[in-house]
Amino acid sequence: MKFDFKEFKNNLLEKKSPDEILKVAESANLKKTLNAFDLIMLGIGAVIGTGIFTIIGIAAAGGPESVGAGPALIVSMIIAMLACLFSALCYSEFASMIPVAGSSYTYTYATMGEFMAWMIGWVLMLEYAIGNITVASAWSGYFFEFLKGFSHILPSWLVNPPVYLVNDYRTAVSIYQNSGLDPAVEIPRLFGVIPIAINIPAIILVLIITLLLVRGIRESARTATIMVFIKLAVIFMFIFAGMFYVKPENWTPFMPNGFEGVISGAFIIFFAYIGFDAISTAAEETKNPQKNLPIGLIGTLAICTVVYILTSLVLTGIVPVDKINVMAPISAAMSATGNNWIAGFISIGALAGLTSVLLVYQLGTTRILYAMSRDGFLPKSLQIIHKKYNTPHVITWVSGIIVVLGALFMDLNVSAELCNFGTFTSFTIVCIAVLILRKTDPNRHRPFKVPFVPFFPILGILFCGGLMIYSLFTLGTSAILFPLWVIIGVIFYFAYCYGNIRKIKKESSSL
Ligand code: ALA
Repeated sequence: MKFDFKEFKNNLLEKKSPDEILKVAESANLKKTLNAFDLIMLGIGAVIGTGIFTIIGIAAAGGPESVGAGPALIVSMIIAMLACLFSALCYSEFASMIPVAGSSYTYTYATMGEFMAWMIGWVLMLEYAIGNITVASAWSGYFFEFLKGFSHILPSWLVNPPVYLVNDYRTAVSIYQNSGLDPAVEIPRLFGVIPIAINIPAIILVLIITLLLVRGIRESARTATIMVFIKLAVIFMFIFAGMFYVKPENWTPFMPNGFEGVISGAFIIFFAYIGFDAISTAAEETKNPQKNLPIGLIGTLAICTVVYILTSLVLTGIVPVDKINVMAPISAAMSATGNNWIAGFISIGALAGLTSVLLVYQLGTTRILYAMSRDGFLPKSLQIIHKKYNTPHVITWVSGIIVVLGALFMDLNVSAELCNFGTFTSFTIVCIAVLILRKTDPNRHRPFKVPFVPFFPILGILFCGGLMIYSLFTLGTSAILFPLWVIIGVIFYFAYCYGNIRKIKKESSSL
């Protein structure tokens, strides 16, 4: 058969019309019950987590392959927030115009067609599944910080287990090196060759969450609100108690690593803001989405920004930045002031917060994979529903296993950086998509419109794209893994998705 280039090109660019997407959503007929307050609770529930409880330490003090912002962390926070703000406005326009649950994957299908939709779904896996590796590793850090508070009653093997059983390989190596020990001697080797370092608590946690999701346990709106209050309570406890221990001399030098530190800090702390896009997935269940969605998105960002800036000021003011490059920096800083019981409370709050983020993201992974499988990008077998629990159990296990496998090979830094690369890409695409649809479908009813188009979407593209490109040139491992992930996505599309979608279309047209 002759290769028809025109047909091939048309297939890659084949779009789903917004009306078709809306028709499917309308048939789901979800109840519109959420108001702006509910959306903000949902947003904060998905946003406040590992970023502020753990990654803040890396952003300030630097990681194995990046330099830190130092006390200028607040500047990094503001840059990351601006990247989110312009993207949040673009999300609002789409979410109110096509209020369906697929987020950037759906918006891309409607504006840029099949190939780009697949690529966005593929990089969204970095945001959701790989991001979860970061959250699970951080959870493990706070778990041991919490157990330490009970060291007088708990056996010492539980409070101080071997480093290689509670950390991934790279983290274990750096912990041993920092304590002057030789990792080659300390880390056991399978068959004398393969080093064994596994973050067992993180893996157990992911398996438990997966099991809960298979059984159909979802975080109800009520539990989410309780979690949000616990998270905010411990953060405010830190801010108000910590305020009294701030020594302004800790804020100098303000930018120990200059502009480079501030930008790499902004890149990594972006992780702390990720998750507000989850609000757009509740568009179908929102009352008066035209008004409430933008309030929910921007309100969440505003509250988180204020909380983050205050936390950064207090954290960098209490202890010199090089003291916070640990897994549980917020409670470690509180312990340094001698307030161990407050540090204990912070650990409990962090554990609750991180667990809820993990649940939201694990559920998000399954939702996106499910949508992609329904559109023919992934095998149909992934959509199988459990007879008893009525949940997509195959896909839920696949998502859980991806996170567990990833956690065997990646540390917190690499997984967080990869997650950021994925999210920056999807934010940039949503900003581009707004510009495209304004041109191709100018008369469509837009209950919320991004102000100052094209400037605001362009600023979103510049902030997100700029931080991403800068980091691609300055980071190490993740800057290699991200392009590799994209290339694998392209190969998979041509090897499987392209043919499968044509096959499904042919079958349905011959019915
Ligand atoms: N923003 C979320 C967190 O910090 C992903 O855990």
